Amino acid sequence: MKSENIKIAPSILSADFSKMGEEVRLMQTLGADMIHCDVMDGVFVPNITFGIKMIADIKKHTSLPLDCHLMIVNPEKYVEKFAKAGADYITIHYEACKDNTLNVLNQIKALGVKCGVVINPDTDPSLIKDLICHCDMVLIMSVFPGFGGQSFIESTLKSLQYVKKVVDENNLNTLIEIDGGINFETVRLAKKYGANVIVAGNTIFTATDRKDAIYKLRTL
Ligand code: DX5
Ligand code: ZN
Repeated sequence: MKSENIKIAPSILSADFSKMGEEVRLMQTLGADMIHCDVMDGVFVPNITFGIKMIADIKKHTSLPLDCHLMIVNPEKYVEKFAKAGADYITIHYEACKDNTLNVLNQIKALGVKCGVVINPDTDPSLIKDLICHCDMVLIMSVFPGFGGQSFIESTLKSLQYVKKVVDENNLNTLIEIDGGINFETVRLAKKYGANVIVAGNTIFTATDRKDAIYKLRTL
């Protein structure tokens, strides 16, 4: 994969929430391609982050696409509000929607927003096989969602490989995103197995040189 085809999506979960506007502006200046926004409801995952107002507020600080990863139950109740707030991508968990996933993806598309499905590390990727062609992006979680700073689960490389195969066999343009535990070692593996959108929280926000961290994640 050529580095110009790799997109870097810093996760603002690791940013300083008290100065989010500044953090987001800095990410754009330092070369990020999109802003990954982790929305958690304390029900689907054991943590609570932020919601619709945060998306609307950070939208004023960047022209980068906002990649909204909804870790919430009943996302169909909220996707319209996230779309109006300025989400450019909305990804929903298969585990939260199950048989309703395609309906919610279509709901997102009808709002003029790019859509994607997400699977947890222990979800069989063949369950989403028929959904992939309806998605602008598929997100493979390489940690169990809820917290930044966890270790990459290597068995999720198989899920990446599976999705990559489906995308290639069907000549799709679907982006393949990886999220969780990405560092300068695991990013190489993720790319090797097909990821082209790289989410990173801790690796970027704790780096002494954040620009260099983004550059390395793109080129390594
Ligand atoms: C985890 C979130 C991730 C997280 C990644 O539930 O979906 O986006 O912020 O953080 P790092 O890169 O620190 O693992
Ligand atoms: Zn995420």
